[in-house]
Amino acid sequence: MHLLLPTLTLLATLGTLGTATTADTLRPKNWDLRLLKPGCQPSGSNFDISVYHAQGVSDRPCMDLTTVRGLNLSLVDTVSWKSPSDPQFDLCMYARGDCAADGLVGEIRDGWGVCVGYAKWKGWKAVEKGAECD
Ligand SMILES: *[C@@H]1O[C@H](CO)[C@@H](O)[C@H](O)[C@H]1NC(C)=O
Repeated sequence: MHLLLPTLTLLATLGTLGTATTADTLRPKNWDLRLLKPGCQPSGSNFDISVYHAQGVSDRPCMDLTTVRGLNLSLVDTVSWKSPSDPQFDLCMYARGDCAADGLVGEIRDGWGVCVGYAKWKGWKAVEKGAECD
């Protein structure tokens, strides 16, 4: 969570300098998930090492990584998850692509998880903050 504070401070500073429209543009609206090759930088965009990217503004039912064309999961080293604060979304990660609850291997619940080790999961969901992963 401490990683988010500099960003919020920056956005607040820019917001006072610009118009409400500028602040609205800068405020993150989407949740954003990336799977990354080695080299994750906590404060960077990590765009150049990204091998999978998904984003949205609402919850997302089960996504099966094994069906994503051209995605080689053996290249994935870390995960980046960023959620807007309101509404906030949580990431659920599953061992298998069907997102069966008995294969739940991790959750990111604080709205922010950058350079999190990739635990070889193959299915994920975005749920509303606090919603169950099953
Ligand atoms: C996936 O990446 C690994 C590690 O670089 C490589 O050995 C393997 O051949 C790749 N698989 C495909 C299907 O490209």
